[in-house]
Amino acid sequence: MTSSSVSFQQQLSDSQQRCENALNSALHQLNISDDYLADAMAYSLFNGGKRVRPFLVQATAQALGINDARVDIAMAAIEMVHSYSLVHDDLPAMDDDDLRRGQPTCHIKFNEATAILAGDALLTGAFEILADMPADFSIAQRLQLIRLLSQGSGASGMVAGQAIDLASVGKDVDLPHLERMHAYKTGALIRISVLMGAHCGNPDSETLRHLTTYANAIGLAFQVQDDILDIESDTVTLGKQQGADVALNKPTYPALLGLEGAKDKAKQLHQQALEALKNLSGDTLALAQLADYIITRNH
Ligand code: IPE
Ligand code: IPE
Ligand code: MG
Ligand code: MG
Ligand code: MG
Repeated sequence: MTSSSVSFQQQLSDSQQRCENALNSALHQLNISDDYLADAMAYSLFNGGKRVRPFLVQATAQALGINDARVDIAMAAIEMVHSYSLVHDDLPAMDDDDLRRGQPTCHIKFNEATAILAGDALLTGAFEILADMPADFSIAQRLQLIRLLSQGSGASGMVAGQAIDLASVGKDVDLPHLERMHAYKTGALIRISVLMGAHCGNPDSETLRHLTTYANAIGLAFQVQDDILDIESDTVTLGKQQGADVALNKPTYPALLGLEGAKDKAKQLHQQALEALKNLSGDTLALAQLADYIITRNH
């Protein structure tokens, strides 16, 4: 770990701006051929997300000494997949939410069919921008980033987690089941953000192993905190409906362990993440600070 003179808040805000720019370039590049669809995609992307996953891409690449155009494209790609996952997560067939990032959800603002299509186009667009990376980045490297993002997004990642989540509603699930569900539905994209950042360079297997331990711990911690905030926060701060999990009888960490048990779990995971970083030699301060942020954030 090394020290930085720039505060974490400033780094996060700079990274958010970098992500906005990368997303703007991505939308231009996609040549979207329908205005209503383009509006729904932009609406779902530019509405005040925290941009945690792009920050992870950037901070991991930085820890490995890399900071170039690949990083910007990977940041945009992961955020496009994440935003699509939220648009679909909010649909009536899934969580049926009408508020996201403080605004009406995509299907409320536009319509259900448009929200499905905007999600589809954000997902596919993410792979298009990775494939179309400038020629200075090798085909092998582009393929690796595409492979990682597919694995994290699809049936071996986030989509599997969403399937487990929906199948678990109203059921008595045990802790291993809940952990597995969280590891897939939220952990997968967070782990892949870290790995995509690492694969902007040429990481060795030891580095990947420690980064994966870090990523798994913060990925789970992120969803534990999301579950805690559903109980403890309020709708205005959250920008999404407080109490939505309880109303839908979703299995969550606080539901299984109680609020204090869930908070202890988040702290343990935070500690595991910091321990993993100690094994890395680069500048991991931003990754450590992000781990702090994940369990202390209020939205
Ligand atoms: C919300 O993700 C969904 C989960 C995976 C818990 P974020 O909390 O990162 O949402 P935004 O992007 O900041 O709105
Ligand atoms: C969503 O989990 C995870 C995704 C893959 C989108 P949640 O359903 O808990 O996310 P929120 O609380 O609606 O943001
Ligand atoms: Mg959900
Ligand atoms: Mg939801
Ligand atoms: Mg939630």
